[in-house]
Amino acid sequence: MNMHDQLTRSLEARYYTDPAHFELEKSGMLARTWQFAGHSSELEKSGDYFTVEIAGESIICLRDQEGVLRAYYNVCQHRAHQLVQGAGNARLLVCPYHSWTYELTGGLRSGPNIKSVPGLDRNQICLSSVRIEDFLGFLFINLDPEAKPMDDWFPNVGKELSAFVPQIERLRPLEWIEIEENCNWKVSVENYSECYHCPINHQTFATGIIKPETYNILPQGYCLRHTTECQNLDRMSYEIDPSSNEHAGDYSSWYLWPGFSFQVYPGNLLNTYHWRPVDVDHVKVWRGWFTVDGVDDEIVRRLAVQDRSTTVEEDIHLVESVQRGLNSRGYRPGPLVIDPACGVNSEHSIKALHGWMREI
Ligand code: FES
Ligand SMILES: [Fe+2]
Repeated sequence: MNMHDQLTRSLEARYYTDPAHFELEKSGMLARTWQFAGHSSELEKSGDYFTVEIAGESIICLRDQEGVLRAYYNVCQHRAHQLVQGAGNARLLVCPYHSWTYELTGGLRSGPNIKSVPGLDRNQICLSSVRIEDFLGFLFINLDPEAKPMDDWFPNVGKELSAFVPQIERLRPLEWIEIEENCNWKVSVENYSECYHCPINHQTFATGIIKPETYNILPQGYCLRHTTECQNLDRMSYEIDPSSNEHAGDYSSWYLWPGFSFQVYPGNLLNTYHWRPVDVDHVKVWRGWFTVDGVDDEIVRRLAVQDRSTTVEEDIHLVESVQRGLNSRGYRPGPLVIDPACGVNSEHSIKALHGWMREI
């Protein structure tokens, strides 16, 4: 075998273009991994609930009367009507079809005429529950009852994030920006997970925020941790006070396989990416911008606009062109550029992602 045959190659195009592969992901990997569901500020009071679609399933997330977070499949255990829509506050969950009524703890409380049915024991009937974790105020669910906790999947991430964003548990969303991309969700995630393309495609990001020559992305469990030095403060596109706390002058991001990333800009400014696969060649990317107590902040608003009109816009063109290319008969998976020394001009992070993507 010559050296050329030992190259690490990109994934076959069908991973990104075949609807059957997308169905496999939905019933497999997307149902076995931790998926962002919402922010804890949406479930502040007892009885608050919202619904969210994960891996093709509608899920109810709520806070019960004791303040415990719970998640259930959004389906009545009588004849399968969906229980609730959207978001709200409720003391009980009442099915709109025949009024079977459930406690927020999942048990069936009552139903018209069910007492007349010999052998029907309402204590045997309860909603199907789903794992939910509050990760520094961010709610994640996992459809796999056996899934290991998030701290096992993403070692040290909670500790590191708390150091980078000391107020993280008091944050609330200030803006959610929805971006539609005509590409497979993995194309978008891969684009996020390498900075080999940054210097030539992201002028503002590469000259106004980070120093590309110091950029690196390393696996940490099922997390890809991005680190970089920042531009000299006089070249930053906004002002910060680097002496205010330990990481005030730093940038870092933590991508949590498969669909979420915490990104911290200098000034302890947290923003997030959430990839929601729609179908095999469409993904919605939600950019969240957060401030302490949700207080309005002109710098954050300005950054959100700057990011949408520069980095995000630039990436849309890249990922949509890649999707068109993956549909070309002329494409054969090319070699990844894996520099043994890693660094910004290396795609070792894509190699890690491809390993995880194969574990459907
Ligand atoms: S399906 Fe819910 S009460 Fe009948
Ligand atoms: Fe990019």
